[in-house]
Amino acid sequence: MHSDTTQPWNAIVLAAGEGKRMKSPRPKVLHEIAGRALVSWVVRSVIEAGADRCLVVVGHGRDDVERELVKQFGERVETVLQKVQRGTGDAVRCAIEAHEDLEGRLVVLYGDCPMLPSSLLRELIDRTTKADADCGLVTATLADPSGYGRIIRNDAGLVQRIVEHRDCTPAERAIEEVNPGLYAFRARFLRAAIRRLSTDNAQGELYLTDAVGLAADAGEVVDLEGDMAKLTGINDQRELALAATARRREIAEQLAKAGVGIVDLDAIYVDADCEIEAGATLGPNVHLRGRCIVHTGAHIDAGCVLTNVVVQKNAKVLPYTVATDSTIGEEAQVGPFSHLRPQSTLGPRSKVGNFSETKKTSLGEGSKVNHLSYVGDGVIGRGVNIGAGTIFCNYDGEQKHTTTLEDEVFVGSDSQFVAPVTVKKGAYVASGTTVTQDVPEGALAISRPRQENKERYAARLRARLRKKKKP
Ligand code: UD1
Ligand code: CA
Repeated sequence: MHSDTTQPWNAIVLAAGEGKRMKSPRPKVLHEIAGRALVSWVVRSVIEAGADRCLVVVGHGRDDVERELVKQFGERVETVLQKVQRGTGDAVRCAIEAHEDLEGRLVVLYGDCPMLPSSLLRELIDRTTKADADCGLVTATLADPSGYGRIIRNDAGLVQRIVEHRDCTPAERAIEEVNPGLYAFRARFLRAAIRRLSTDNAQGELYLTDAVGLAADAGEVVDLEGDMAKLTGINDQRELALAATARRREIAEQLAKAGVGIVDLDAIYVDADCEIEAGATLGPNVHLRGRCIVHTGAHIDAGCVLTNVVVQKNAKVLPYTVATDSTIGEEAQVGPFSHLRPQSTLGPRSKVGNFSETKKTSLGEGSKVNHLSYVGDGVIGRGVNIGAGTIFCNYDGEQKHTTTLEDEVFVGSDSQFVAPVTVKKGAYVASGTTVTQDVPEGALAISRPRQENKERYAARLRARLRKKKKP
């Protein structure tokens, strides 16, 4: 490794803005792409690039932003508060003043550019360090540069300053080279430059971009060309949707390259933190959200929405299954139209069929809940068969209670279990039974009135009913 890259460097991510153009109640940097907040994409890139410390400037919606950062990165990230958003220069001032000890190189970037590759960050810091410059930045060229700060170069072709879109003269506005917002400063220089910024501009804010002009006045600014597709800052819902679509496609292609069967690359919604093994297959319109893990040979068919679900080897998830915080065992089969609510654990070769709902329930090896049932707060052993329309009455209006069905229990259709209740090994529950007491091992539980057949009664009954009918 080159000696330059071994110099520790720190990063400041600006994420205090409201993001008015999003027209959303959420702080802008918490909008998600492939299940990760914008700011988390940026911070991840910074950490991957090898930053020593990563400071994030928070302000608008700071509690939510801090919660997200702690969830994703724990102690790895430090936050700094910018109480009032007076511009990007002011945000950097807050970070620098809160950390007098910051020295060496400081990378500054914005929390709203989620496509940023860590390799570009490393290149920027390497080049700036090697040139021993006060400032280095990335620039990019755009056919439609509107909204971005423009790069003004001198006759020698060196970067001289940046002019914000709103402060541009018509001639400057025609410049297609823009500032994506990725800088590497010498900390000592930035500390001094920040004090010299003014609010004498169209927005009455302190612009970080003016620090680039100050660096150019004193020496050469290093610049390198970036690919705008990787550098777009998200300002509105359209840009968010475009970036999300691009990222989704990228994830789908990576999976397919790695050996995951994908029916339609444009109709697959896999969050960035999911792990899918080679040999798994995903049908069209499958959503894998949060942290799903799908093992080899598993097949997830059309329209399934799984959130934080583990799908073991060779399991089949049939169309339109919705599952959350659950595990589907090896060779198990779920769906079509099943609903696994949190803490459902399905054992190997078990089955949950159409219109069945499970919640906080473990289902042992080979057990089946095939049709139209609700099993909540259940402990179900191996080889248990639960007939159609069975209900675990787990809630008494105050508390939840457990239903336990031991190994090899058979439950006839349309039965109810009024929990807490236990059915011991191998017992048989007759159809239509309301189980309110424990059932001993091997016993038959039946709780229905005996049937009476009245011979030839049907015709008499019909005649009587017809007479009652109004003409
Ligand atoms: C900024 C740049 C512009 C560049 C563009 C690239 C400045 C003055 N302009 O403009 O040259 O082309 O990004 O996307 O820097 N923020 C704070 N505190 C504040 C203001 C902003 O933390 O007081 C944060 C925001 O949360 C956001 C980032 O800084 O993540 C950029 O702010 P934004 O308002 O989007 O800047 P642009 O107007 O896009
Ligand atoms: Ca922006």
